[in-house]
Amino acid sequence: MFTIALPKGRLVNKVCKLFAACGFDCEDVLADDRRLVSFSGDGGVRYLLVKPSDVAIYVERGAADAGVCGKDVLLEGENDVYELMNLGFGKCRMCVAAPVGFRENLTAPLRVATKFPNIAKAYYAGKSREIDIIKLNGSIELAPILGLSDVIVDLVETGATLRQNDLEIVETVLPVSARLIANKASMKFKAADMQKLTDALRQKGETA
Ligand code: PRP
Repeated sequence: MFTIALPKGRLVNKVCKLFAACGFDCEDVLADDRRLVSFSGDGGVRYLLVKPSDVAIYVERGAADAGVCGKDVLLEGENDVYELMNLGFGKCRMCVAAPVGFRENLTAPLRVATKFPNIAKAYYAGKSREIDIIKLNGSIELAPILGLSDVIVDLVETGATLRQNDLEIVETVLPVSARLIANKASMKFKAADMQKLTDALRQKGETA
């Protein structure tokens, strides 16, 4: 049995479409029910549907042999996994955003609200800028509106959430897209399955 962890939410339809096009049957993953485990028609592949930010944890710990998650998740979690391929979809940007017209006070630490404290810390450390991290778990855009933070570090896809909350991009931190990741032991002990998956996906995705 080869187990693949897939991210719930925005990416799952695109992932399943790609997998199906590559001959990996994951029709049951998209069934309109609450099942978190499903199987390919031939029973050879087991799919786990997990929170996007948890995919790399399942893969690192060997609960899944492979997985699909965003580059943001990999950088934030620093999990001990192999990043095999850039799948070329789920494209968005990690950005610093602030209320329209915001002017930074360079004499005080910058208050940064984010779901991605490690990425934000590394980014500002690179600029030698002192910051105060406010770790939130969602609706990050509220923080500067309420004065809880000066800026946010968050993902921007269409930009609609920023626009509708009177925020604008100040800087781009990094581009983000979906990646195929693998458990280190599975790369050795399930090499044939892993090869089959990467060969199939390589024709469709971009190499990392
Ligand atoms: C993400 C991200 C932004 C939004 C960006 O949030 O944190 O809020 O999507 O997308 P856009 O540029 O297309 O508007 P998500 O929808 O995952 O919800 P959350 O705020 O609960 O994290």
